[in-house]
Amino acid sequence: MTEQPISDPGVDPGVDPVVVGTDGSAGATRAVEWAADDAALRGLPLRVVHAVERLPYDGPRYPIPDSYDRMAPTGEQILAHAEWVARDRRPGLDVTTVLVEGRPGRVLRDQAARAAEVVLGSHGAGGFPGMLLGSVGNHVAGHVAVPVVVVRPAPPEAGAEIVVGFDCSKESGPALTYAFEEARLRGHRVRIVCAWEPPVPYGPVISMDLDAMRRAAEDYARGELEPLQSGYADVKTELDMVHDHPVSALIKASSRAVLLVVGSHGRNAFTAAVLGSVSRAVLGHAHCPVAVVKAR
Ligand SMILES: Nc1ncnc2c1ncn2[C@@H]1O[C@H](COP(=O)(O)OP(=O)(O)O)[C@@H](O)[C@H]1O
Ligand SMILES: [Mg+2]
Repeated sequence: MTEQPISDPGVDPGVDPVVVGTDGSAGATRAVEWAADDAALRGLPLRVVHAVERLPYDGPRYPIPDSYDRMAPTGEQILAHAEWVARDRRPGLDVTTVLVEGRPGRVLRDQAARAAEVVLGSHGAGGFPGMLLGSVGNHVAGHVAVPVVVVRPAPPEAGAEIVVGFDCSKESGPALTYAFEEARLRGHRVRIVCAWEPPVPYGPVISMDLDAMRRAAEDYARGELEPLQSGYADVKTELDMVHDHPVSALIKASSRAVLLVVGSHGRNAFTAAVLGSVSRAVLGHAHCPVAVVKAR
């Protein structure tokens, strides 16, 4: 089924907006707030999207007469509330709202074609207790060219710090750039977390000098970072070489961060996968908002 805009003021040609999806839930409202802040900091317009989904039992054989017409007013109310939240938070922000008929994940993927980034809540109005990530985040992160930010509340002990995962690969470049740019806009510092582990299979047969290994890993990481950091000399950065699995290293670091940035894929990526295993895991378990930035 193709998605049809029910009401759409269009996009200003040449200026891709920050797109945020809302279903009116508390989780989505946090996403609207995050998106309004980011749009204001980047000097971009904000486009708030609500997808009106066809009722599962509203099939072509037994259509429910006027079901969209009857659902649209609720959609308009959800959008009006989101618009109010954004304007109240960032007076003067250019805000437009769009009501589209279709499945939320599909609709937001389509909207991403004309977006600077897409912002979502980690949870929405559905889901079940204990669920780590709503279905829309799973449908959008890794599937679109632009950065996708999945918003959850930042931890109370978060400092002015953005954490970015770095696996010493070129694939991390766009994620680092995103982190440096956000840090510059927000006046935050960047903690670059590079998790490394000794090659496990050889552990029992060769004695390993872990210190030397860590130094070698750090030298290598610094060398790879240098060109990626050029142009961001004003951004305060710190490199953490962490002897740990990348997922646990990043999740621990996220408990002190306002934002965790990861690439969609890492080194040795199984390229057919839409999202690398680390990105997928941190989307479910991080303690702060997560930005997934597609590798080139
Ligand atoms: N109908 C919708 N229209 C636009 N965005 C939506 C819609 N439903 C969900 N979203 C976005 O996706 C986020 C996560 O919601 P979702 O994945 O549906 O989780 P849940 O399963 O908890 O409802 C929301 O916070 C919101 O940003
Ligand atoms: Mg939902």
